[in-house]
Amino acid sequence: MTAIPTTAFTDQKPGTSGLRKKTRVFMGPHYLENFVQATFDVVGAKGKTFVLGGDGRFYNDRAVQIILAIAAANGAARVIVGQGGILSTPAASHLIRLNKTDGGLILSASHNPGGIDEDFGIKFNMPNGGPAPESVTEAIYQRTLALGEYHKLSAPEVDLSRLGRSHVEKMFVDVIDPVSDYAALMESLFDFDAIRAMFARGFRMRMDSMCAVTGPYAVEILENRLGAAKGTVTHATPLPDFGGMHPDPNPTWAHELMGEMMGPDAPDFGAASDGDGDRNMVVGRGIYVSPSDSLAVLAANAHLAKGYKAGLKGIARSMPTSAAVDRVGAAMGLTTYETPTGWKFFGNLLDAGFATICGEESFGTGSDHVREKDGLWAILLWLNILAVRGGSVAEILAQHWATYGRNYYSRHDYEAIETARADAMMETLRAKLPNLAGQKVQGMTIAAADDFSYTDPVDGSISARQGVRIVFDGGARIVLRLSGTGTSGATLRLYLERYQAGPEGLDIPVQTALAPVIAAAEDIAQITANTGRTAPDVIS
Ligand code: G1P
Ligand code: ZN
Repeated sequence: MTAIPTTAFTDQKPGTSGLRKKTRVFMGPHYLENFVQATFDVVGAKGKTFVLGGDGRFYNDRAVQIILAIAAANGAARVIVGQGGILSTPAASHLIRLNKTDGGLILSASHNPGGIDEDFGIKFNMPNGGPAPESVTEAIYQRTLALGEYHKLSAPEVDLSRLGRSHVEKMFVDVIDPVSDYAALMESLFDFDAIRAMFARGFRMRMDSMCAVTGPYAVEILENRLGAAKGTVTHATPLPDFGGMHPDPNPTWAHELMGEMMGPDAPDFGAASDGDGDRNMVVGRGIYVSPSDSLAVLAANAHLAKGYKAGLKGIARSMPTSAAVDRVGAAMGLTTYETPTGWKFFGNLLDAGFATICGEESFGTGSDHVREKDGLWAILLWLNILAVRGGSVAEILAQHWATYGRNYYSRHDYEAIETARADAMMETLRAKLPNLAGQKVQGMTIAAADDFSYTDPVDGSISARQGVRIVFDGGARIVLRLSGTGTSGATLRLYLERYQAGPEGLDIPVQTALAPVIAAAEDIAQITANTGRTAPDVIS
């Protein structure tokens, strides 16, 4: 037992993706210990089994040893750890479910850079494999404020490089191959023979693992099992600082991949994933696939993969994600659920069997196979669709738009705005909402405007103030919300969408197609006057 002053740590409130801080904060005396003890106090450790692993960023290895020593001191029966302390987030979610454990601890700060001067994070996932709900994270937070001591053994460290079982006093530690169970799950969902045959016919792919956790998974699945050429996976070794890369799979940060895919010798298919492997970006030769379009294509074609051949139970997307997938759902007679931003809202829908496929505009897609979004899963589903349908990514997108029409879509981010100014802007906008319907802006008539409120169809819980939506006649839409994951000041996210039914006008440059919607957003929200910014920092 180590005594610490109560209220030593007042900043351990987990956000939507767990507790994220600078690595040096986590390295501070008793900091990680306090949070882990609080977690075990809330969820209980005695006699329980947990999964443990992370994305390999700086401090991952040390943190695993500390957590093992605390788990043992708190009477845990068994901890399943990925070799080297490595587990991707979706693989951890799968292991929690596969082994029917009492949950797991995942070490990651997702797509944030890693290193001693960058970010670290930890979160607890429940026995269903999904992130702890707010009731649990709030209880953990309250406990972090009240803790006066923690329990930690001073046992020798576990050799995480060796597969197999060892002990920390009475607690079993099973060091397992981080990849094999996950790879088997993927093999059960997708037609590996068809994909292998496609690679054998000369199909070329580039997978950029961005020196993050998916490297070993992608090499094993794509190169070893599916026969993609050796070297298909680049930046395949997870490094503590991600080799200085910012492992966020979007056109800005995955610029190397984008350059190759838009270049003269582009392969047929390109993909990237983030630090912990739950996000994905997909690119065709000469064509970028927006995450909202990717979700729609995956939903429309999932039945081509063996794991989904019985069809989908339903579809779910976060509110700011484009309505492209709604059109697929409608054509299939499926309910499309619209949830607040954040993966945790999908968990109830998946557990209840209301939805099979879920997605967010922020490069997250997944299904009911785990309770996290899953980057490699989305990439493999795309490969499966390409293998069955033939043709290029560009052709599949063109056919999709010809069938359903196109939802032009973009997100504009205004970062590090002074928090008070951002809050004031949102309040002014909210106050305007009741009077907006019927007004004409930039030649478009506003059909409805509200602040999104979600009632969970499974447990009836209500999440209010989830983002301002302004919908126009004809399906154009503006959404504004403040980020819940930013670290400095406030980040304003402006989501812009316009529907084009086709057959004409399906091939306009995105920002051009959205120009009237962008102008309307400025007219209504007065972003320049309210934030002092004349242009967004990031456009995706
Ligand atoms: C962002 C994304 C959101 C995602 C979350 C965690 O949250 O927009 O879709 O679920 O990261 O990965 P935000 O910063 O917008 O609150
Ligand atoms: Zn992530």
